[in-house]
Amino acid sequence: MCDLGEILVSRERIREMVDEIAARINRDYAGEEILLVGVLKGAMIFLADLCRKLEVPLIIDFIIVSSYGQEASTSGVVLLRKDIDADIEGRHVIIVEDIIDTGVTLTYLKNVFEARGPASLKICTAFDKPSRRTVELVPDYCGIPIPDKFVVGYGLDYAGMFRHLPDLRVVKNI
Ligand code: IMP
Ligand code: MG
Repeated sequence: MCDLGEILVSRERIREMVDEIAARINRDYAGEEILLVGVLKGAMIFLADLCRKLEVPLIIDFIIVSSYGQEASTSGVVLLRKDIDADIEGRHVIIVEDIIDTGVTLTYLKNVFEARGPASLKICTAFDKPSRRTVELVPDYCGIPIPDKFVVGYGLDYAGMFRHLPDLRVVKNI
């Protein structure tokens, strides 16, 4: 079992970050309709907060990709386990993710979605660990960059636990 460490990003700072990203999306997509694609399960809380601050017409859909499972490091293999229901051709799509680590997951998803002919495709992430990248990937909407630490809360888990915590916290002893 692991222990919870210090709070890395407080709920207040997270709320400010969501407000900032929502304001940018509202500006960038004024007059357009967007399709938000949440990457389950991690993005559920961020997407729920974000979408309620958006003032443009939108549709919400979800995908499930293979994740870390019980491990704290990636396998490097990505599997699309549940696809979206909506047709994305001609739509303005924003993929909403909890955190970008190596960048492997979102690079894969970007390629899959680009191939379907969206009007535009952008990546939005709540947290980012830029120092961990193994592939080049720059999110269009990046919430809060963090150092190379394993974190939980605000949707992020360790072995399925801790997603419900309102602050982002470091995990010790893993
Ligand atoms: P990537 O493909 O290496 O960028 O991995 C992205 C995925 O790994 C995220 O969607 C998370 O599910 C998971 N992940 C990466 N870092 C963390 C972390 O610190 N805590 C919890 N999950 C993480
Ligand atoms: Mg995830």
